[in-house]
Amino acid sequence: MTDFIEGLPKCELHLHIEGTLEPELKFELAGRNGIDLPYASVEEIRAAYSFDDLPSFLKIYYEGMDVLRTEPDFYDLAMAYLRKAASQNVRYAEIFFDPQAHTSRGVPFDIVIRGLRRALIDAESRLGIRAQLIMCFLRDFQAEYAMATLLESLPYREWIVGVGLDSDEKGNPPVKFKAVYERARQEGYLLTMHCDVDQENSTEHIRQAIEEIGVNRVDHGVNALEDPSLVEAIRERGLGLTVCPISNGYVTDSMKADAIRRMLDLGLRVTVNSDDPAYFAGYVQENLVALADALDLSREDLVQLERNAFEITWLPRHLKDAYLAELDAYAAG
Ligand code: ADE
Ligand code: ZN
Repeated sequence: MTDFIEGLPKCELHLHIEGTLEPELKFELAGRNGIDLPYASVEEIRAAYSFDDLPSFLKIYYEGMDVLRTEPDFYDLAMAYLRKAASQNVRYAEIFFDPQAHTSRGVPFDIVIRGLRRALIDAESRLGIRAQLIMCFLRDFQAEYAMATLLESLPYREWIVGVGLDSDEKGNPPVKFKAVYERARQEGYLLTMHCDVDQENSTEHIRQAIEEIGVNRVDHGVNALEDPSLVEAIRERGLGLTVCPISNGYVTDSMKADAIRRMLDLGLRVTVNSDDPAYFAGYVQENLVALADALDLSREDLVQLERNAFEITWLPRHLKDAYLAELDAYAAG
């Protein structure tokens, strides 16, 4: 099955570019920027990756970003991910970035987006992998800062396909960002947001995301299964769910494999993604293998997961169809 998964044309829709910063690149960027890291080796950095919930992960994730300072740093970060993803036959990716994690420490918005954008263009022409950017707001900052970031993004509107919401969910419900999302919609952005797993008020947050914000997709959203009315709302609207099994295993009590099985059986558009692969030790290939092992997935299940993913992409219909045809040809092969 590992070989079948390797060849499978894949699509990744829940991937934080800052969460792809591997310890090796962290050292390289620290050296380039004259920053002293409080670690002596790559192994020491990895050993410090101990987290058992979302806040403990986020603390290490934000600390790690300090080495990202210049446009070439963001280019190298994105290029490294895209190379890795292309090597796993990821054909298309929608990539989150967290501008406020950089502007809040003095790195200008345009440095971040220009580096990422240049990598996406080069990767498409050199590696044949296509990608688009989703700008995430940090939900533990004020809504006014998110709105200012949204306005700052408008000159780059054509480089960003949609907006998302991430960081610490506790006490930061979707409705806190209602006005920001309304404006984002008016500007033509598509809308998604994290409804992280096993949070305080998870089901209420999913309800708000769907009914009050009107999202086009839900990131994670596993707890929707606890409320039949949410399952119905997700099905009725055809919303996709971007689930991240290995990440779940780090920040909650399990990979939530059984929940993914149920979502598949319910015909929901559930997908498998890597979230923050440098921190959770698994890119999309490893996530699919781990899930296939846990659930004894069939080839049809795996193809269905990727069909769901290509179907819920924020691509024009003709490109979706081209990727789906590639998938069908592989499945038939
Ligand atoms: N930022 C990066 N990864 C995240 C996650 N899994 N949940 C919330 N915020 C994040
Ligand atoms: Zn995430």
